[in-house]
Amino acid sequence: MPAQVHISTDANVVAADFTRFFLELLAGKEHFTVALSGGSTPKLLFQLWADQYRTVIDWSKIHFFWGDERCVPPNHEESNYGVTKQLLLNHVAIPGENIHRVIGEADPEAEAIRYSAEISDNTEELDGFPVFDLVILGMGSDGHTASIFPHQMDLLEAEKFSAVAIHPDTGQKRVTLTGPVINRANTVVFLVTGESKQEKVRSIFGREEDAKLYPAAHILPQSGDLHWFLDEAAYSL
Ligand code: 6PG
Repeated sequence: MPAQVHISTDANVVAADFTRFFLELLAGKEHFTVALSGGSTPKLLFQLWADQYRTVIDWSKIHFFWGDERCVPPNHEESNYGVTKQLLLNHVAIPGENIHRVIGEADPEAEAIRYSAEISDNTEELDGFPVFDLVILGMGSDGHTASIFPHQMDLLEAEKFSAVAIHPDTGQKRVTLTGPVINRANTVVFLVTGESKQEKVRSIFGREEDAKLYPAAHILPQSGDLHWFLDEAAYSL
């Protein structure tokens, strides 16, 4: 099925529009697995959920994972888990066992193995790969998604469920979900906002030759649904 595109006026409205979609996905489910993204738009989402959905959503049904994590301690300002904890997890009634963070302070290679096992133990499976109910992604201005960067396109086809990635500019190690896991999710959602993403969005949506160089263009769920939630700044005709 082709991607479904949702355009909102600005990043805050993207968060609100996606939340309505999220509630539809949650309806009737007793157990729901989500891989969260880092980045700026998810911060708005977490704040919205903490402010306005604290008692609306039954958080005990949701198991949070991360699509990628920086290899830093949880109290480091760059920790995706740390940001989610500060903006959301500290404010909602979610059982500790529902939080499946990447241990950023651990040895990256060993943690990628451990995290893969934790994912496998807590999700459904499809042809040998874990299946998330929902994977939320952002996209960098270079076309990366999760922590799959253009210089590591092999992570799109890796047999591993999660793997060590390296930020191309800083050299920072990350643990990221791999392409086969993301593409087996029941629903994959991109939250992309800001003018800096416009060029890559246009290239990917226009199926331009360059798009093949961008990891985000290779996120095509095997049997799941793909949705792009964009603000007007990121979307261009
Ligand atoms: C991360 C994210 C990363 C992010 C993009 C977009 O850990 O940084 O997972 O993939 O989604 O870099 O970030 P912005 O939305 O802040 O531009």
